[in-house]
Amino acid sequence: MLDSTGFDLWANDYDKSVNLSEENNEYPFAGYKDVLNYVYNQIREKNKTNVLDIGFGTGILTTQLYNNGYSITGIDFSNNMIEIARMKMPQATLINWDFSNSLPKEIGENNFDFIISTYAIHHLTNEEKINFIRLLSPLLTKTGKIIFGDVSFKTREELERCRERFNEYWDKDEVYFIAEEMSRNLNDEYFCEYIKISYCAGVLTITNR
Ligand SMILES: C[S@@+](CC[C@H](N)C(=O)[O-])C[C@H]1O[C@@H](n2cnc3c(N)ncnc32)[C@H](O)[C@@H]1O
Repeated sequence: MLDSTGFDLWANDYDKSVNLSEENNEYPFAGYKDVLNYVYNQIREKNKTNVLDIGFGTGILTTQLYNNGYSITGIDFSNNMIEIARMKMPQATLINWDFSNSLPKEIGENNFDFIISTYAIHHLTNEEKINFIRLLSPLLTKTGKIIFGDVSFKTREELERCRERFNEYWDKDEVYFIAEEMSRNLNDEYFCEYIKISYCAGVLTITNR
C-alpha cells in the first residue's frame, strides 16, 4: 500500500501516468476520465454547492468545480499532492489528514451536498469502507450524496476476470469494491446505485434512506 511518502514521490508525474494508462485503456485507469466526468456532471446538476473530496490528489476534478464557484473542502495525506492542488485552488480548505484514522476535526459540523472520492477509497478494506460511509453520511445535507468513483466491479466474477487478465500488474495492496457486495451490506441504511463505466471502473452513489 502506498503511504504518504509514496504519493509525494508520485505527485509530479501523477497526471501524466494516469493519462497514459487511461489512453491505453489499461487497468487500473481505463475509464478514468469518464469516471471523473460522471461525478462532475452529477455535481453540476446543483449550482455552487459544498463539496468534500476525500483523497483529492492533484485536484483534477475539484479544480473544475472550484473554478465554477463550488466550495471545496478536501482531505489528503500527501504534502506534495496538497501543494499542487493548493496552487490551483488557493481558497479551498485542504486538510492534511490520513482518512483511515477517521475524520479531521476541521470538518466540524459542516454539511456537504456532495462527498466524493475518486481513485482513493481502495486504500481502505471493505469493512473500513462501510464504517467510513457511516462516518460520512451524517455530514450530508438532506438531499446530499456520497459518490465513489474507483477501480471497481459489479460482481466478484468481473473482478476475477480482470485480475487474471492483468495478473502481472495487479496491485495486491488495493481493495477494489464490488458493487453487489457493498449494496448488500448498506441496503438497510442507504440507497445505493452503481454505474459501470469501463471494464475495471464504475461509480457508486449512496444516499441516506
Ligand atoms: C490515486 S490518487 C487519486 C487522486 C484523485 N482523487 C484522482 O481522482 O485523480 C489517491 C489520492 O488519495 C490520497 N490518499 C491515499 N490514501 C490516503 C489516506 N489514507 N489518507 C489521506 N489521503 C490518502 C493520496 O495521497 C492521493 O492523493
